[in-house]
Amino acid sequence: MSNSPIGIFDSGIGGTSIWKEIHKLLPNENTIYLADSVHAPYGPKGKKRITELSIKNTELLLANNCKLIVVACNTATTNAIKQLRNTYDVPFIGIEPAIKPAALQTKSNAIGILATKGTLSSELFHRTSDLYTNGINVIEQVGEGLVPLIENGQIASPEMENLLKEYLQPMLDAKIDYLVLGCSHYPYLIPTLKTVLPKHVKIIDSGIAVARQTKAVLDRHNLRNASQENGNCTFYSNGNPDILNDILQNKYPVLKLDF
Ligand code: DGL
Repeated sequence: MSNSPIGIFDSGIGGTSIWKEIHKLLPNENTIYLADSVHAPYGPKGKKRITELSIKNTELLLANNCKLIVVACNTATTNAIKQLRNTYDVPFIGIEPAIKPAALQTKSNAIGILATKGTLSSELFHRTSDLYTNGINVIEQVGEGLVPLIENGQIASPEMENLLKEYLQPMLDAKIDYLVLGCSHYPYLIPTLKTVLPKHVKIIDSGIAVARQTKAVLDRHNLRNASQENGNCTFYSNGNPDILNDILQNKYPVLKLDF
């Protein structure tokens, strides 16, 4: 079981930002990544549909013998992880917007959160936000349209820059000093975000925290791969594999699969 792969899924290519951190921390683990690009974006969908898609992805990963599943999608985590944990025996790791570190470190008492509609409207997000942001001005913004542009390979396009400028303006007006990226696709926007944001605004995402949590849970369940070899990393996409290949710089096998 310990040399079984870690399964990772997202609505598309964004969760590779999480996979990268996991692979960096646990290079000898085998991984299988599912990019459900055909059903992207998950963000505008309702809880029921997001849960159905999360179940479909989980079952495919379990059919591939995965020992632990990383839900590398804030939208799927905040809407579906409870049901996944209640239904399947393997451990699940989720990803949520890093509100806590931003709220603890802000000096201007104002933080921005860019995430999908599905995440920002979820009960889990509100519970976490209420817990840590008492007395802090939290500017929430739905990143509508950002995921489809990323999925189309238009990461550094003028359309992207215009959308980001529009979405960040209310945060800049509120003098945020932390921007929380609450969607696993958004770390790919960091170079563009840096051109729009003043230098003192720090950008935080949850990738490293998810990788550390994955390691801790593998240890707790005695599931770490004992092999010292580099792990096999396989990527499946039900959309255009070229975009995933670009993101991975053609270093790993990307297979087209309908799911
Ligand atoms: N990457 C996902 C997230 O972290 C979902 C984005 C989407 O499909 O809307 O929320």
